Amino acid sequence: MQTPSTTPTPSAIEIIALTKRYGSGKPAVDSINLRIAQGSYCCLLGPSGCGKSTTLRMVAGHESVSSGDVLLENRNITDLPAAERGTAMMFQSFALFPHLSALDNVAFSLK
Ligand SMILES: Nc1ncnc2c1ncn2[C@@H]1O[C@H](COP(=O)(O)OP(=O)(O)OP(=O)(O)O)[C@@H](O)[C@H]1O
Ligand SMILES: [Mg+2]
Repeated sequence: MQTPSTTPTPSAIEIIALTKRYGSGKPAVDSINLRIAQGSYCCLLGPSGCGKSTTLRMVAGHESVSSGDVLLENRNITDLPAAERGTAMMFQSFALFPHLSALDNVAFSLK
């Protein structure tokens, strides 16, 4: 039997009051809070248009944040460019080159 840890599992990702407004209407993402523990597997589930992709894009740096913060291992990455975040994202509508192999698709941007 394992002894319960006295210190909580560190958060890999912490989202604090994250909000995205595209216009003057209802926010696409409205002040959400989420803590994802290191080593865990997390799924965002919800109806179409509820803001899943917008949230992931804000975490990965492909969408600006209207307000709130994104922390990666306690580092505030909210305003960092995507390339400096240490995150990766597979897009919903992935743009693969059909004439390239899987390996060459992955290698393309590195080249
Ligand atoms: N670039 C944009 N400009 C304006 N509104 C947007 C933009 N992107 C998303 N939205 C709106 O923000 C809301 C959330 O969209 P989002 O794509 O994040 O939802 P989703 O949960 O990923 O939906 P789905 O399950 O269909 O992929 C929707 O109302 C959508 O119309
Ligand atoms: Mg989506």
